[in-house]
Amino acid sequence: MTDFPWQARVLTLFPDMFPGPLGVSLAGRALENNIWALAARDIRNFATDKHRSVDDTPAGGGPGMVMRADIVAAAIDEAAAELPDVPLVYLTPRGATLTQSRVQDFAKGAGMILLCGRFEGLDERVIEARNVEEISIGDYVLAGGEVAAMVLLEAIIRLLPGVMGSGQSGLEESFETGLLEYPHYTRPREFEGIGIPEVLTSGDHGKVSAWRQAMAEQVTKERRPDLWAAHIGRKSDGDDN
Ligand code: ADE
Repeated sequence: MTDFPWQARVLTLFPDMFPGPLGVSLAGRALENNIWALAARDIRNFATDKHRSVDDTPAGGGPGMVMRADIVAAAIDEAAAELPDVPLVYLTPRGATLTQSRVQDFAKGAGMILLCGRFEGLDERVIEARNVEEISIGDYVLAGGEVAAMVLLEAIIRLLPGVMGSGQSGLEESFETGLLEYPHYTRPREFEGIGIPEVLTSGDHGKVSAWRQAMAEQVTKERRPDLWAAHIGRKSDGDDN
């Protein structure tokens, strides 16, 4: 375990939404144990006018409002002064889709600044001027970036050293191996007339392992041809080298 907690700084118009679900269970215990630390900062604190406005009408017209570059930049600059050298991520459906391998990269670092958008989005100039990485959690649109930030944080936190307990647990999961997971079974031995695949009760670890690998391959082939193609590609690369 490292000496310092992994640092999450969330810039949001709704700081009260945090830690939310990250305050219970695995992530909540890790927060209590100082494995990670969280500060949610209200972007509105950086507003400069008497109405404390953070948004304005879009240049060129059209519906909705846009978050102002100057206000958001001030919020970013304060967080970046406190946490230099950590990635700065803006959660937006326009971003690159989040992957387990990007989550692993983030978990290896010292922390992250997460910027949550509301309204129609953020003035493009602040994204360029502050070298913001744009990340999406999937091809659908949420009402704002806060829940997406929680998704990203939960995916990272479970990988931090000391969070999941005795090693292993994460390694065989979907995406860590490039394949979806094999199916799981437990008691009762018979459920509504359906038994457990015999190999799993055979006590033969070699056979169990081979069966799980075959099932992981089958389920990936059926459900996610894109992952399967990538897996096959990686395997043949390996064979060539
Ligand atoms: N904000 C709104 N929708 C989002 C998405 N799909 N991913 C990340 N941030 C978002």
